[in-house]
Amino acid sequence: MKDILAELEHRRTEARLGGGQKRIDAQHEKGKLTARERIELLLDEDSFEEYDMFVAHRCTDFGMEKQRPYGDGVVTGWGTINGRIVYVFSQDFTVLGGSVSATHAQKICKIMDMAVQNGAPVIGINDSGGARIQEGVDSLAGYGEVFERNVMASGVVPQISLIMGPCAGGAVYSPAMTDFIFMVKDSSYMFVTGPDVVKTVTNEVVTAEELGGATTHTRKSSVADGAFENDVEAIAEVRRLVDFLPLNNREKPPVRPFFDEPGRIEDSLDTLVPENANTPYDMKELILKVADEGDFYEIQENFAKNIITGFIRLEGQTVGVVANQPMVLAGCLDIDSSRKAARFVRFCDCFEIPLLTFVDVPGFLPGTGQEYAGVIKHGAKLLYAYAEATVPKVTVITRKAYGGAYVVMSSKHLRGDVNYAWPTSEIAVMGAKGATEIIHRGDLGDAEKTAAHTKSYEDRFANPFVAAERGFIDEVIQPRSTRRRVSRAFAALRGKKLQTPWKKHDNIPL
Ligand code: HXC
Repeated sequence: MKDILAELEHRRTEARLGGGQKRIDAQHEKGKLTARERIELLLDEDSFEEYDMFVAHRCTDFGMEKQRPYGDGVVTGWGTINGRIVYVFSQDFTVLGGSVSATHAQKICKIMDMAVQNGAPVIGINDSGGARIQEGVDSLAGYGEVFERNVMASGVVPQISLIMGPCAGGAVYSPAMTDFIFMVKDSSYMFVTGPDVVKTVTNEVVTAEELGGATTHTRKSSVADGAFENDVEAIAEVRRLVDFLPLNNREKPPVRPFFDEPGRIEDSLDTLVPENANTPYDMKELILKVADEGDFYEIQENFAKNIITGFIRLEGQTVGVVANQPMVLAGCLDIDSSRKAARFVRFCDCFEIPLLTFVDVPGFLPGTGQEYAGVIKHGAKLLYAYAEATVPKVTVITRKAYGGAYVVMSSKHLRGDVNYAWPTSEIAVMGAKGATEIIHRGDLGDAEKTAAHTKSYEDRFANPFVAAERGFIDEVIQPRSTRRRVSRAFAALRGKKLQTPWKKHDNIPL
């Protein structure tokens, strides 16, 4: 028995060494942690239960039968994050470059199946040279099996991808179908075709970092939701995110102890909106002042900054926030901001996370650039997402809510539950100047008359009261009491149940 146990330990030690000390050192030299070190940091201490440690590939081509390392380039299992279960796979670049063989893919599939059956998130740590070249189509089949599971798990359990090394070719499509992608600056990249192919086909010269690094994907393409300085920071932030999320679509988001007064009054909010309607102000200030303990987890912070998306807690409960940002493009909606917010709204709706919307929107961004690129379809995504969402929806209009954008931004007309407005709100088809230029075009040459028309339009519509008269606004509230009003609104909506007609699935404009 002693020998048998010693043999087990011997095999375990060998498996834990992955591709060997030399390759581990090389991994460290690149500023990267190993697959196991990443898991250790991600999960609560001693909570990791590993599966399939001794799995080895079955390939016999190209001399592969001579190197059959334990684990086959991916470490899989489950553990806890602050006591809550998550399933994990972490690709081991030290073993055959973390490349994906049929058995490597089977290990990932096993974890995904268990996560769905047991209702727990899947966190995938990607660091791989892609399809195991020696295995050919077996490897592609493995990817296909993973893709199918990504889709089946979508909306059932949260799926989070950490990109911590290469992720190229078709391999990018597994993370692409997960809910959140986080990258590490300077040590990770994602692209469908690499710089060499790009050079051959299009003659463009571009580095891997420029083509698919963390900065590119968080600022230009919006493929990634966040970029971090190193592995440690990225993993710590994923732990923070998981704390906001429910484990699956049948559970409510977690309720955390909170140390903030739900009725906290913020006098400074009474002067947040400047006197001049065209002067910007920072909408993040409102979010931070409303959130429990000022804690805000922002998603896609560096992309389409004219809209802000992220998670806060109110009375310890997770709430998804969508807010126009007047500091950028005057807070107008455009293609990028509509896509960004629509995806966020749909994530929240999948996982029963209530939605809080702060509105200060002058309309959609005009121009051929937007129209040619399909702002009609992309803008419709956000409208669609809000309209279909059945989670509690509370909206606060702080200033402008003009035209179609007023309707889109979680208005009463899209099954908004509680719609508040600050007294500084202007709810109208458009601003007074634009309206005057259209309805009093004949008087445009007469400055005095035009000013009078503008003033009369402002007096009539540059306020929340016309909408309030019609019940489109439930209450005009004091800015300073926003946290209290919004917290109470969500508390009253905790039992909300709303059914949509049966359908196979919807057909959101894509
Ligand atoms: C088998 C691989 C591998 C792969 C790397 N290795 N990629 N083995 N299949 N895809 C092995 C290397 O042989 C090497 O083994 C070890 O991993 C480390 O690789 P290095 O090249 O030394 O590392 P580095 O210099 O850091 O370069 C990393 C890399 C490069 C840029 C990822 O390895 C590379 O270009 N690999 C091939 C990438 C690729 O073309 N993949 C297929 C893409 S198509 P030793 O024993 O020397 O340590 C694809 C399709 C998916 O993925 C489709 C899904 C539908």
